[in-house]
Amino acid sequence: MNKLIYITRNIPENGIKILREKGYEVDIGENVDKPTKEELISVLSNKKYDAVVPFLTDPIDKDIFESCPTAKIFAQYAVGFDNIDISEAQKRGIVVTNTPGSSSLAVAEHAVALMLTLTTRTMEGDLYMRAGKYKGWSPDLFVGTDLSGKTIGIVGSGAIGFQVASMLHHGFNCPILYTDIIPNSLLEESCGAVFVDKETLFKNSDIVSLHVPLLPSTHHLVNKELLSKMKPTAFIINTSRGPVIDEIALVDALKRDVIRGAGLDVFEFEPNLTAELNTLPDVVLTPHIASARESVRRKMAEIVANNIVSFFETGKALNEIKK
Ligand code: GLV
Ligand code: GLV
Repeated sequence: MNKLIYITRNIPENGIKILREKGYEVDIGENVDKPTKEELISVLSNKKYDAVVPFLTDPIDKDIFESCPTAKIFAQYAVGFDNIDISEAQKRGIVVTNTPGSSSLAVAEHAVALMLTLTTRTMEGDLYMRAGKYKGWSPDLFVGTDLSGKTIGIVGSGAIGFQVASMLHHGFNCPILYTDIIPNSLLEESCGAVFVDKETLFKNSDIVSLHVPLLPSTHHLVNKELLSKMKPTAFIINTSRGPVIDEIALVDALKRDVIRGAGLDVFEFEPNLTAELNTLPDVVLTPHIASARESVRRKMAEIVANNIVSFFETGKALNEIKK
């Protein structure tokens, strides 16, 4: 039987090709920006879709599932899936998949880039140059700090946390502390990483880098209390999900010099910023682009398509998310 797929925004052609070659009919949302919930419900209730490909900006809940009762698989075009009500999907027998591993290297590189931007003061220097303020070399102009040898605290030792630890340990000779729900012996063996509780990690790290999924248990994991344990010279890096940090508490900690700085690719109230975040020195902000590489986007499209094909052909998706 011919399958009907809805993709909420355009994805790379290689993924669409896999689906069309199977004879599936593929409709793609025309919005460049994210569709509103009402738009999504309206388009999904128009036809009898068998599969939906949402983006991380599409909240997928009961109302969405009800608008397309024929769709038995939601193949998310992302690694993170906190936009999807997984319990509700499971209650309805709907399979949800993601694209694990597709972006680990890219996100890890971006985390390291944020660290280097802060330690070398590259962004401040760039803004200074562009503003025409440079009057010649001076020994005390934008004095930075070494990344090499700094103690790095990795929160979450999955694929991305592992890559960050590996890059920093092998490339920059950094001692690695990490915390997770269970120890990761591979990380310990390959990077000499030391498993500690999160208080010890925040207290002893020069840079803390967050690599956990957003779950009820990780929402505001970084709060006022944990920030207060950090060194006044420390930086925090977030390439995971914004709400893992209490952003108001972070702005407060930065303003009061409780910590030195922050490199953020994700934001609690995305796309909005907490007041004053964009006015603080020693803060680098990027617009959720850590995985934005052509190779990664193509890989994500391929994984999405393969999940859908596998689900229709064998009844089993390749990357099903289970609670
Ligand atoms: C990006 O944030 C992703 O989850 O893939
Ligand atoms: C990220 O890509 C992961 O697999 O954790």
